[in-house]
Amino acid sequence: MPTSLAWFYHQTETAYALVMGQQTTPDPANLQEDNVLVAIEAVSLNYRDLIAWKNLAGRQVSGRVPASDGAGTVVAVGRAVQQWKPGDRVAGCFFPRWQSGPFDLSNHQYDLGGNLDGMLRQHAVMHEDAWVRIPSHMKTLEASTLPCAALTAWYSLVSRGGLRQGQTVLVLGTGGVSIFALQIAKRMGARVVITSSDDRKLERARSLGADHTVNYKTHPQWSEQVWKWTEGRGVDHVVEVGGPGTLEQSMRSVAGSGHIALIGVLTGFGAPSTSLFPLLARNVTLNGIYVGPRDEFVRMNRFFEDHEVVPVIDRVFSMDDVPDAFAYLASGQHFGKVVIQVA
Ligand SMILES: NC(=O)c1ccc[n+]([C@@H]2O[C@H](COP(=O)([O-])OP(=O)(O)OC[C@H]3O[C@@H](n4cnc5c(N)ncnc54)[C@H](OP(=O)(O)O)[C@@H]3O)[C@@H](O)[C@H]2O)c1
Repeated sequence: MPTSLAWFYHQTETAYALVMGQQTTPDPANLQEDNVLVAIEAVSLNYRDLIAWKNLAGRQVSGRVPASDGAGTVVAVGRAVQQWKPGDRVAGCFFPRWQSGPFDLSNHQYDLGGNLDGMLRQHAVMHEDAWVRIPSHMKTLEASTLPCAALTAWYSLVSRGGLRQGQTVLVLGTGGVSIFALQIAKRMGARVVITSSDDRKLERARSLGADHTVNYKTHPQWSEQVWKWTEGRGVDHVVEVGGPGTLEQSMRSVAGSGHIALIGVLTGFGAPSTSLFPLLARNVTLNGIYVGPRDEFVRMNRFFEDHEVVPVIDRVFSMDDVPDAFAYLASGQHFGKVVIQVA
């Protein structure tokens, strides 16, 4: 039986180690009739992969292939598959079964790199509806960044938030979700304020179109800067990736009838130590976000094509250096995305 390379989570006493191994290569001639075999070329990492690796949320992932986000080229298709052919360039869907419409809790049983094997392997087989076409202007490597971070930013701001031209958006930090949020918001004609712990990263954000920047380390009460920038009105949308440690400043930054997309846990899973009353007083819409469905992924890719959005990749690691790639993401030095070249 031919085999191909894959990485696996291996349980240790307190967390998981990353271990390289082999998987049986799927036989192209024996695919299930609605399945598609893809040669994975690149994988991108998300903070969520650190959560699994460091066991921050108590998830059981022992033996699983890590990473939700991968892109590659179709090698073979089952006999009933209509929409793909060998040679097509595709990216996988974070939730392979969430095709459209509202989120159903059953999707949590089928998340890549969590309950299902992820993409850190040379070959992946999934149902034909679990893949989307890569925007034509993007390299496959670039498209590996789309399934989680980009779709989360799009689903937050556009699908659920109804972002309109001329509105204001607050983006926290310069990680994967946040830089996509900046790029999308600028292409939609919004004005963007972004925070970071690093002035050099803020400079880079300005070169991507950020209208205003705030260093959240030197300005711990950063909502005051946001408030001044909006001339005492507040922002229309907050891309809230911080969680309990940033929510107070986010609530102080949002406008009346504004929108907070609650996305992340960069400051942990605990409870915020602040009153939630500003949400009521400001008539805020609070949207809990967990990535997004496939039809919004397709819509986003069309928008990216029309507006020539190119993902910002900070650094590319080789398939041999996966633990270094995880450690680099954990160090927080990156701006945008960290990618692993699989093939
Ligand atoms: N709900 C969902 O669907 C969904 C999807 C994707 C991600 N997420 C969550 O969203 C968060 C971001 O994910 P990601 O993959 O984009 O992470 P990432 O790329 O690892 O982003 C890390 C960056 O976040 C910034 N950061 C860290 N602590 C911060 C703080 N207290 N205030 C402001 N910024 C801070 C830092 O930027 P600077 O270096 O510029 O300071 C850091 O470099 C994570 O919690 C992740 O689990 C949720």
